[in-house]
Amino acid sequence: MSLLVDNIGELVTNDPTHGRGLLGTRRDAAVIIEDDTVVWVGSAGGSPAADTFIDAEGGAVLPGFVDSHAHLVFAGDRAAEFAARMAGEPYTGGGIRTTVAATRAATDEQLRANARRLVDEALRQGTTTVEIKSGYGLTVADEVRSLRIAAELTDETTFLGAHTVPAEHARRTDDYVALVAGQMLAAAAPHAQWVDVFCERGAFDADQARTVLTAGRQAGLGLRVHANQLGPGPGVRLAVELGAASADHCTHLTDDDVTALAGSDTVATLLPGAEFSTRSPYPDARRLLDAGVTVALATDCNPGSSYTSSMPFCVALAVREMRMTPAEAVWAATAGGARALRRDDIGVVRVGARADLVVLDAPSHLHLAYRPGVPLVRHVLRLGEPQ
Ligand code: NIG
Ligand code: FE
Repeated sequence: MSLLVDNIGELVTNDPTHGRGLLGTRRDAAVIIEDDTVVWVGSAGGSPAADTFIDAEGGAVLPGFVDSHAHLVFAGDRAAEFAARMAGEPYTGGGIRTTVAATRAATDEQLRANARRLVDEALRQGTTTVEIKSGYGLTVADEVRSLRIAAELTDETTFLGAHTVPAEHARRTDDYVALVAGQMLAAAAPHAQWVDVFCERGAFDADQARTVLTAGRQAGLGLRVHANQLGPGPGVRLAVELGAASADHCTHLTDDDVTALAGSDTVATLLPGAEFSTRSPYPDARRLLDAGVTVALATDCNPGSSYTSSMPFCVALAVREMRMTPAEAVWAATAGGARALRRDDIGVVRVGARADLVVLDAPSHLHLAYRPGVPLVRHVLRLGEPQ
């Protein structure tokens, strides 16, 4: 079954050899998809025949957004905590335990329904790949069930047993780390691609994070780190040292951190929804980009620090608040996310890539930042299927 997307005003390929600038843009383009794969990219009106047809009506077409950092398996919300923050309370991460209690008390069906609701919400806003973390169960059984549910919704699942020390292990962090790196990891690894640690003062220090990450690597998982979110610390350098795919947050960086990232394959994944929702200073994306660091944007969707599933919102924040150009932000939300997941089949429109496309009700990618909060996504194709 073939599908032609025609009359594309601006096609963002993310392939500079096939168009102009960082985004490899082409004017007046068309794309043909066969099953779940892009099979032809060329000029509007000049395509071979196809079985079915979508008219982009002169709108921009982009690769689907790749949200490489989300916490979608949880119960309840923390709206009151948000309201308190907007009245001046700081964000400390302490509220994670509130969500852990609600998540443990929920049924599988409740967790599944909530996660599915958020994946669908993201899809309507153009997200065609989402990474989903565990991390609100924090017992062997609750982490495994979180990952089983995540795996029903995505191929990109991450074991985050080291999210916080649960109440029953309070003041026995090393015992909890041993559990996470031992029995919990062994049970979780068959359901996960990645392992992640919240490396932060008040959560896990560098040695504890290293213990979990190296055990995860032994178990065959790729590495990701929540790093330097609430203050300076060892997370970014640990991520680089261990060859993690991504260091996420990167809000408080020293010059040494930036140099380390620039000389590595570790992507800096910035999560501006978290700074927005915790009223914190934004990371300086310009400083990272100018140093040559690969930058991704993701939502961090979770009920505590960033309850948004919207990649367009994150693009707009990154442009307005983090000194990214619209092109850099769109690249980071698509190709950057793909790099952060070490994928080359998504985040790009080229022959052979996965047919994940977003058609905008706007003539160019600039409108994603220029028209914040406006639902500009007109069509989404995921694996070649109109959604
Ligand atoms: O990435 N920082 C740690 N984890 C999440 C927040 C989780 C929560 O507050 O529930 C984050 O921001
Ligand atoms: Fe997070």
